Amino acid sequence: MKFTHFSLLAAFALQSVYSVPNLPSDALKPRRTSSILINPPAQPPLPSVQEAASASASVGLNLTNIQGDILIGMKKNKELFFFFSIVDPTSFKAQLGADILPFITSTTQVLDVSTQPETLVNIAFSQKGLTELGITDNLGDTLFAAGQLNDASNLGDTTSDWVSEFIDPNNLLHGVLLLASDATDNINSTLSQIQNALNGSISEVYSIQGQARPGDQQGHEHFGFMDGISNPAIAGFSTQLPGQALVAPGIILVGEGGDGTARPSWATDGSFLAFRQLEQRVPEFTKFLIDNALSEPNLTADQNAELLGARMMGRWKSGAPIDLTPLADDPVLAADPQQNNNFNYSHPGFNITTDQSHCPFSAHVRKTNPRLDLNNANFTNHIIRAGIPYGPEVTDAEAASNTSSTDPSLERGLAFVAYQSSIGTGFAFLQQKWANNANDKNCASSYSLPQGQDPIIGIAPEDGPRSVGGLDPLDPTRDITMNQDFVISRGGEYFFSPSLSAIQNTLSA
Ligand code: HEM
Ligand SMILES: *[C@@H]1O[C@H](CO)[C@@H](O)[C@H](O)[C@H]1NC(C)=O
Ligand SMILES: *[C@@H]1O[C@H](CO)[C@@H](O)[C@H](O)[C@H]1NC(C)=O
Ligand SMILES: *[C@@H]1O[C@H](CO)[C@@H](O)[C@H](O)[C@H]1NC(C)=O
Ligand SMILES: *[C@@H]1O[C@H](CO)[C@@H](O)[C@H](O)[C@H]1NC(C)=O
Ligand SMILES: *[C@@H]1O[C@H](CO)[C@@H](O)[C@H](O)[C@H]1NC(C)=O
Ligand SMILES: *[C@@H]1O[C@H](CO)[C@@H](O)[C@H](O)[C@H]1NC(C)=O
Ligand SMILES: *[C@@H]1O[C@H](CO)[C@@H](O)[C@H](O)[C@H]1NC(C)=O
Ligand SMILES: *[C@@H]1O[C@H](CO)[C@@H](O)[C@H](O)[C@H]1NC(C)=O
Repeated sequence: MKFTHFSLLAAFALQSVYSVPNLPSDALKPRRTSSILINPPAQPPLPSVQEAASASASVGLNLTNIQGDILIGMKKNKELFFFFSIVDPTSFKAQLGADILPFITSTTQVLDVSTQPETLVNIAFSQKGLTELGITDNLGDTLFAAGQLNDASNLGDTTSDWVSEFIDPNNLLHGVLLLASDATDNINSTLSQIQNALNGSISEVYSIQGQARPGDQQGHEHFGFMDGISNPAIAGFSTQLPGQALVAPGIILVGEGGDGTARPSWATDGSFLAFRQLEQRVPEFTKFLIDNALSEPNLTADQNAELLGARMMGRWKSGAPIDLTPLADDPVLAADPQQNNNFNYSHPGFNITTDQSHCPFSAHVRKTNPRLDLNNANFTNHIIRAGIPYGPEVTDAEAASNTSSTDPSLERGLAFVAYQSSIGTGFAFLQQKWANNANDKNCASSYSLPQGQDPIIGIAPEDGPRSVGGLDPLDPTRDITMNQDFVISRGGEYFFSPSLSAIQNTLSA
C-alpha cells in the first residue's frame, strides 16, 4: 500500500471536513485518468489485463511478480535512469523490503491506466551491487558477473568514449532505479520520496533523463525513425501479431520455460538488463544521407536520400518495412501492427541469399533479427528493447553546420535497454556476432555478397572508414563508404532486474 502526500492529505481532509468514516483506502488513492505510457499506432498495443491474465495462467506466469518495465517495450514517455552506489548496505537492505518494495511497479499494474502509479519504479542491480548486499549465488550469466566494462572490447567499444562514471573504480555502480511517468515532476517527487526513505543509504553516481521526442516524432528515435515496433511476443503475456516472433517466456525471464541454464530459485522471474548510452550524431547522419543519396530514376533527390536511410535501417522513418514497400514509404502500412511486422525477407520467386532489391542484408533490422535468413526462424537470440531517447532536439546551429555540438548538455542519443535471460545470447550476441560482423552472420543460409557491418550500430575500430554493402538497389555490388560511425557507445553496465518476491525475500533483510 502506498501513500503519497496527496492521498494522506486527501484522507485527512475528507475525514476532518466531511467526516466520512471508514472509507476504503482504495477510494482515497489518486486514480490516473491518463496513461504514463505513450502508444503511437505503429507500436503494438499492450495486452489488456484480461488478455494477459488468461495468457499468463496458461503457462503459469505470475505477472504480479515481474517488474513492470521488462515486458512493455519502448512505450515510456519520460524516464529517469538513476545509477547509484550503496553506501550503507545494512540500512539499504532493511529499507529495500520495508520502504522501497511498495514503490516497485509490477507488470500487472502497468497494463491498466487505473492501476498505474504516479511513477513506474523499477530497480536492478549490477553484480557488484548484489555482492555488496551479500548475495553470493551465481546467477549463471558470465557477462553479467564480469560487468560490461570487461566486455567493452568484445563489443567493439572504444573505452575512451565511455562516460567516466561507467569506468571509475572509486565510484562503484551498484544499481539503477528506473523511474518513468508522463511528467518529470512526477518522477522528481517519486525520487524524492525514495531518497527520503533511503535516508542516505545510497548515493547518486550518475543519471540520464530520457524522454519521448516531441510532437509527431513521439515514438521515433533521434535519427527520425519510428522505434519500438518489433519486439517478440512472449508466450504467457502477449498475443502474437502477424510476422512477429513468439518466444518462450524463458528467453526473456530467468528460470521460466525456455531458459535452459541452472539458476538459484530466487532468480526466477528476473531478467538481465543490458544498459547502453548510445550517442547519436544526428546532423552528420542527415548529411551522409544527402551526400550519398541513391539514384532511383523516378525519385527526387530528397526521396533518394530518404531511401538510403530507409535501406540502412530496414524501415522508413514512418516505420513501414522496406521489405514490403521497397521504393516508397507507406504511412498507412506503417501505422498498422497487423501488417507492419508481417515480413520475413522472402518473396515468391525470390532468392533470399542473393536478392537485396527489397532489403539489404546489412540493414539494421535484418542484422539484428534475420527472420527467414535463418532457416530455423525460431532462434533464441531475441531481446525485449525497452529504451528511450535522451538529450535535446537538434539545434538550428547544429543543423546549419552539419555537426553535433561538443556542448555536453546537447548530447543526444538512445538510452538503450535490452532485457533477456542471457546477455551472451541476447544483446551481446546481436552486437558482436551480427551487427559488428561484416561477413559471417552465422546464418544457416549464407548471403552471396559480403554485407558489411550494421550501418547504424556496427562499430568500426577507431571510428575509421568502413564500407557497407547492398545499400544501392541499382547496384548491390557497390559498397558505400561511411567515414564515421553515427552511433557512439558511451558505455553502460549489465544489471539484473529481480522479481518482486526476490526483492522481498532475498535481497532485503
Ligand atoms: C542508437 C542506436 C540504435 C538505433 C537508432 C536503433 C533504431 C532502431 C529502429 C528505428 C528500429 C526499427 C523499429 C523496430 O523494429 O522496433 C530498430 C529495430 C531493432 N533494433 Fe535497434 N537501434 C539502435 C540500437 C540497437 C542495438 C544496440 C541493438 C542490439 C544490439 C538493437 C537491436 C534491434 C532489434 C533486435 C530490432 C528489431 C528488429 C526486428 O525485429 O525486425 N538496436 N532499431
Ligand atoms: C505473485 O507474485 C506476487 C508478488 O511477488 C505475490 O504476492 C503473489 O503471492 C504471487 N501469486 C502467486 C499465485 O504465486
Ligand atoms: C526535476 O529534477 C531535475 C534534476 O534535479 C531538474 O533539472 C528538473 O528541472 C526537475 N523537473 C521538474 C519538472 O521539476
Ligand atoms: C537517518 O540517518 C541518520 C544518520 O545516518 C540517523 O541518525 C537517523 O536515525 C536515520 N533516520 C531514520 C528514520 O532511520
Ligand atoms: C520456439 O521455441 C520455443 C522455445 O524452445 C518453443 O517453446 C516453441 O514451441 C517454439 N515455437 C515453434 C513455432 O517452433
Ligand atoms: C519510372 O517512371 C516511368 C514513367 O512514369 C515508368 O515507365 C517506369 O516504369 C518507372 N520506373 C520505375 C522503376 O518505377
Ligand atoms: C513470409 O512472410 C509472408 C508474408 O509476408 C508469408 O506469406 C509467408 O508464409 C512467410 N514465409 C514463411 C516461410 O514463414
Ligand atoms: C540462390 O542463389 C545462390 C547463389 O547464387 C544459389 O547457390 C542457390 O542455388 C539459389 N537458390 C535458388 C533456390 O535458386
Ligand atoms: C551541410 O551539408 C549539406 C549536404 O552535404 C551541404 O549542402 C551544405 O553546404 C553543408 N553546410 C555546411 C555549412 O557545410
